[in-house]
Amino acid sequence: GRVVALVPAAGRGERLGMNMPKAFVDVAGQTMIARAVRGLLASGVVDHVVVVVPSEMLESVADRLPDRVTVAAGGAERTDSVCAGLDQARDADFVLVHDAARALTPPELIRRVVDALRAGRRAVVPVLPVSDTVKEVEDVTVAAEGHPAGDAEGHVCVVHTPDRTRLRAVQTPQGFDASVLHAAYDAAADVATDDAGLVERIGETVTCVDGDPLAFKITTPLDLLLASTLAAQDSD
Ligand code: CTP
Ligand code: MG
Repeated sequence: GRVVALVPAAGRGERLGMNMPKAFVDVAGQTMIARAVRGLLASGVVDHVVVVVPSEMLESVADRLPDRVTVAAGGAERTDSVCAGLDQARDADFVLVHDAARALTPPELIRRVVDALRAGRRAVVPVLPVSDTVKEVEDVTVAAEGHPAGDAEGHVCVVHTPDRTRLRAVQTPQGFDASVLHAAYDAAADVATDDAGLVERIGETVTCVDGDPLAFKITTPLDLLLASTLAAQDSD
């Protein structure tokens, strides 16, 4: 079965705040996107990679792509970017979707996801237990302009505390039988924060495999500091 990995790398990186698309930020000598692609190819279980970049970066990226890597132009939301990548994965039997921002993901984790697909699982996510207690709070998205969310001080209240032992933090790559992911995206009515979420909505079972702390998503300046430190140690 042919395995194609899509690498959404078209985000703006607002939370990182470096005024450039996040996937092109340097992490100890290599961009996030280069590290993510190398990890996928190093796993030995990925046949082809489609990187999805901001449209204005398309030409500069297309000039210097390694073998087995092609590029597509992303969209406004991550969901749009994954759709653009999926268009170039029509010949895949299995599709992995892997955030460029998870630049330090170990190849062993990628192999665990593909092993589960080859064993017959149709949707696979790498997960970790959560160490913080997580609380659900009031929905304040209805707050109108000029009327800040929450109470007079802007605080919101807790409505529920889920049992932490049953919660998992979800990483990438998420792996899918290609037909399942296509069906999920065809049915997608709005945006989702992960691909498996769309697959759940069409009634498919999603299977968990062990994630890895090194597959953390570089989102904030603190994450970038950690990633740069780890990557610099690794190349010593
Ligand atoms: N992504 C994408 N297209 C988008 C939005 C996000 O391809 N329209 C990608 C990002 O490049 C990243 C991954 O999806 O590799 C996870 O998104 P996130 O960590 O939220 O990255 P950004 O959207 O860039 O960051 P922020 O939300 O802080 O702006
Ligand atoms: Mg984002």
